[in-house]
Order: sequence, then structure tokens, then C-alpha cells
Amino acid sequence: MTIHFIGAGPGAPDLLTLRGRDLIASCPVCLYAGSLVPTQILGHCPAGTRIVNTAAMDLDAIIGEMQRAHEAGQDVARLHSGDLSVWSAMGEQIRRLRSLDIPLTVTPGVPSFAAAAAALGTELTLPGLAQSVVLTRTPGRASSMPSGETLANFAATGATLAIHLSIQNLDHVTASLTPAYGADCPVAIVFRASWPDERIIRGTMRDIAGRLDAGITRTALILVGPALGGEGFAESCLYAKDYDRRYRPQSAESQWAEWSEGDD
Ligand SMILES: C[S@@+](CC[C@H](N)C(=O)[O-])C[C@H]1O[C@@H](n2cnc3c(N)ncnc32)[C@H](O)[C@@H]1O
Repeated sequence: MTIHFIGAGPGAPDLLTLRGRDLIASCPVCLYAGSLVPTQILGHCPAGTRIVNTAAMDLDAIIGEMQRAHEAGQDVARLHSGDLSVWSAMGEQIRRLRSLDIPLTVTPGVPSFAAAAAALGTELTLPGLAQSVVLTRTPGRASSMPSGETLANFAATGATLAIHLSIQNLDHVTASLTPAYGADCPVAIVFRASWPDERIIRGTMRDIAGRLDAGITRTALILVGPALGGEGFAESCLYAKDYDRRYRPQSAESQWAEWSEGDD
């Protein structure tokens, strides 16, 4: 049988892909990372599903659950918050499953950085201000950082930074980034993006720590960079009247090029 890894999204039960929803609805076993996946998502499980919160389990116990379901001929929906490609601990589970020859699939989810940007109503790549987004974190109790992946190194690029798992290190974050971005650089904190109690705190590198509510100690994203200001950027060429592009050719020559080039 198959273990279906499913990105459960940032929190709102309707920010789940249709594929993810349908897979959850088809599996008699559901393992979910209960510290971040809201229980409303479990409403998609069919009646009688064996539902297991894995928040307090170790890797051996989690793989044991999967193995037992596999041997019993049951598919498993394995839910992690946001998308599975970042900080999901999917990698170590997949490695074990492959060594056990247990089939698996991966279904992406809406990542928290995208939900946070949506909550802010912000594009993170604004022309002339930032054209890259760095998804990163600071070291935690369970995870050190590779030596090159420092905030100072990322700051040197001037890109928009989406800093996860770091709200408790906010002073360290601002101290590390201020030399490159400046004290007036915009910063936004989004707590529980898409949850009913979502909160947004905006400020600058200089004052954001003073604006943070003491109750916000987890499930928050720190977004930093000039794009967060949402002003002072150029319009992209994409929709400019005189921009000659494949889908809006300005000349007969480019029209011909479009027909002859196919869709590359
Ligand atoms: C273990 S990581 C999981 C990341 C997840 N896989 C993703 O795609 O976003 C948990 C961190 O993601 C961020 N996070 C997850 N859900 C969030 C949300 N709804 N709002 C704000 N930040 C969130 C926080 O920084 C939190 O500390």
C-alpha cells in the first residue's frame, strides 16, 4: 500500500489542494503533525479513520505506524504543515520507507511564506527592489545551521528574507541584518497566517522588536527586505504598452517569430 505525504497548508482548512483533500478522504489511516496541522483538516478523513497525532512520537514509532498500515493493506495520509519541501522532516521518513520498499507519493501544499505574503497583500519580488526570496531560519535546539547559511551572508544579497522558526530569536535577527539592510528597512511579522487569530505586525528593523506582542512565541514568520515597504519600485516590463513579447507582439516580425518558434 502507499504512504501519501500531503502538504496540509498554513492552517486554514480550505488552503489545501484538491488532490490533498481527496487523498485524505481515501485513506483509512491518517498521521498528522499535530503541533501545526489544525484539527479541522482532519474533517476530510472518512468515518472510522485511524487518526494519529505524531507530535509526541519519535521516528521509529512513526515508521512503525506506517509499516503496520502497509502490512494491513491500508493506505496512509501523512500530513505536515505548509509544503513538504521545507522543514517537514519528510526526508528522513522517505529514506526509511524507501529502505523498507514501501511505496509513497508526495503532494505539495501552500507554504507558510506564501500565506504570510498573501496576508500582507504583498509581492515579495518587486522590480528594482528584490528579485529573490530566501527561505531560511536561525539555529534551534534541534537543528544547527550549515556554516555558510548565516543571516549576514543572506543579507549581503539584499533579497527578501522569509525567516522561519525564529520568532524567539528576533533580537539576533535584527542585529544580524541591520548592518546590511539599515535600521529603516521594513520588517513584517505574520503570526498564524490564515488562522482565525492571524496577526500582522509591521515595523522597521529598528522598532519591530518593541512592537512584538509577548504572546507571540511560535508559528510566526519574519519577513524582511525593501520589498516589504511596497513602494519605490518600478513597474515590470511585463504589462508595459511598448514591451514586445510573445503573447502581445508589437511588430509583424515578432508575430512571425511567435508562430515559428512554438512555445519555448
Ligand atoms: C516546522 S516549520 C514548517 C514550515 C512549513 N513546512 C511551510 O511550508 O511553511 C514551522 C515554521 O513555519 C512557519 N509557519 C508555519 N505555519 C505558519 C503560519 N500559518 N503562519 C506563520 N508562520 C508559519 C513558522 O516560522 C514556524 O515556526
